[in-house]
Amino acid sequence: MTRVFSGIQPSGEMHLGNYLGAVRQWVIDQHEYDSIFCAVDLHAITTQQDPDDLRSKTLDTVAGLIAAGLDPEQCILLVQSHVHEHTDLAWLLECTVSFGELSRMTQFKDKSARQSGDFVSAGLFTYPALMAADILLYDTDRVPVGEDQRQHLELARDVATRFNSRYGDTFVVPEAAIPKTAARVMDLQAPHNKMSKSVDSVAGTVLVFEEPSAIAKKFKRAVTDSDTEVRFDPDEKPGVSNLLSILAACVGREPADVADEYTRYGDLKVATAEAVLAVLEPIQTRRTELLADPAELARLIEIGASKAEELAVKVMDRARNAMGFLPRG
Ligand code: TRP
Repeated sequence: MTRVFSGIQPSGEMHLGNYLGAVRQWVIDQHEYDSIFCAVDLHAITTQQDPDDLRSKTLDTVAGLIAAGLDPEQCILLVQSHVHEHTDLAWLLECTVSFGELSRMTQFKDKSARQSGDFVSAGLFTYPALMAADILLYDTDRVPVGEDQRQHLELARDVATRFNSRYGDTFVVPEAAIPKTAARVMDLQAPHNKMSKSVDSVAGTVLVFEEPSAIAKKFKRAVTDSDTEVRFDPDEKPGVSNLLSILAACVGREPADVADEYTRYGDLKVATAEAVLAVLEPIQTRRTELLADPAELARLIEIGASKAEELAVKVMDRARNAMGFLPRG
């Protein structure tokens, strides 16, 4: 069966764009593919983290994913640092990728420039080797990621191919699965920008786990466009089209169809907020339950770690042998 792997940073709260654009697809994928999803806490420390904060965010991320519908019995849901083969393999791959290749990664260039004057860790530079390790460790066929991760995925493919040609066939070369159909959710206040938690736009970003009344308010205040026609046209009418995309994604229809039912911006905003809340409220309830039962959450996390480890150990052994490490007595 096709194996799918994806990772999510435990660095912040899940927003509507993460949910509608990615996580919701993972929930579907887990029934169709042999799926592995990973809270990438080792990637998070490429920029300095407060220890208590990292612990609580990692737990919160896993609880959020389960609440959103990932079933630890159906897929493998793991915390990256629980399976040490991720870092073991990352070293072998750091020695298979070149300094030049890593230097060309646009995410590194952007992030290191943003921290200029500040501390730029070596881990931020080698980050793509760890990401390649995550993927190659599980003989992954498909990697559902956003467009922003395309370059990292290409690098993972190049590294797998190079390793295979140097040391013999060891890794499956993964394909990117960049969703075309998933909703592209834009900022409610600046609809030319993708919704994001890193951009400073509290009013434009809807968090999956914020108060329903706050969510409703954000939709009410969403930016629309200058004329008054409700029409799906992302270039000419980005604000209204974003609302239509979100509404359509929540009710499982096409934005252009949904547009026909509204003549007033106000009605569209109210309907979009209602549709979003109908999707999010059950997820919020489930998350609250999970966080109230730490023992159960820990049990679910352990299921993922042990299932993942069983797979990872085998691929790690294969890679070690291929490279010529002496087996232990
Ligand atoms: N780098 C990815 C991001 O920032 C997260 C990630 C880490 C990932 N390892 C991965 C995604 C492996 C896909 C596969 O979004």
